[in-house]
Amino acid sequence: MTTPPATLRRRTFTLGAALATPLLATLLSACGRTEAPAAPTASAPTPAAAPAARIYTVGTDAVYAPFEFQNERGEIQGFDIDLVKAVAQRAGIEVKFVNTPWEGMFNTLAQGDRDILVSAITITPERAQTMDFSAPYFDARQLIAVPAASKVQRFADLKPLRVAVQTGTTGDEVVSQLLGKTNPRLKRFESTPLALQELDAGGVDAVVADNGVIAHYVAHHPGARFKSVEDPSFIPEQYGLVVKKGNAALLAQLNDGLVKLLADGGYAEIHTRWFGAAPTALPGSVPTAAATAPSSTTAASANP
Ligand code: ARG
Repeated sequence: MTTPPATLRRRTFTLGAALATPLLATLLSACGRTEAPAAPTASAPTPAAAPAARIYTVGTDAVYAPFEFQNERGEIQGFDIDLVKAVAQRAGIEVKFVNTPWEGMFNTLAQGDRDILVSAITITPERAQTMDFSAPYFDARQLIAVPAASKVQRFADLKPLRVAVQTGTTGDEVVSQLLGKTNPRLKRFESTPLALQELDAGGVDAVVADNGVIAHYVAHHPGARFKSVEDPSFIPEQYGLVVKKGNAALLAQLNDGLVKLLADGGYAEIHTRWFGAAPTALPGSVPTAAATAPSSTTAASANP
């Protein structure tokens, strides 16, 4: 069993502690109450004659179901998309989504091509040096996908195996720590679906990626050929919305929208839409009244 390296261990508390505090105070007061027959937050109309100064461009790597993906008609959908739409509505800003490959995504902010990024992006201290994160909006951790018959029981079991990850993700980080950054058995792909395709083709023995995405893949893959394996050594991660470093005004608007969304029940509704249940803990690991319910992320996986 590996001890998480110091660099990884440091990741969690930065914004979770700093930024989430005011947010969570609001949340705590909100989560005690039972939602009345749910205000129609999803279908609430956008403000009619808003001055609409500008439309903010949101970049998203839409190959990460159920967080962001394209449907048959090419429309970008997912938990993250609904979340940003709802946040924008509450913040009184207009947004449009543009599919943006993960690789190079962060550079689009500095170039001014994108104003906001949403892509199940984990808040890390390294990233926070070059971009600004909103308060955390989703709790996640790494999860392992292996063939159903695999003997892998924990992360350390991957050490002698071939493992696929998406380049430059936190999954890449943890597997790099275990196997060594330049190990030829560590196969990097530009998207997580490509990594999973390699698993499907038998080219690798495992994929390590965010739990929501792995659980979704395992649950929806025909023939129950894959299973997911958890490991307690994976440190908790949190997703944040991203803006260009120093764009304090936009960041404040997003955080304001997020606070409102969490407080008015919209967040729970969107979570239920995509994960089949209200969150058991609000972002930042504060347990909710629903904390006794089965974990939302494992609920989606067929046979863990
Ligand atoms: N949460 C992970 C990270 O921040 C993976 C995110 C990948 N998201 C995507 N849409 N491809 O590194």
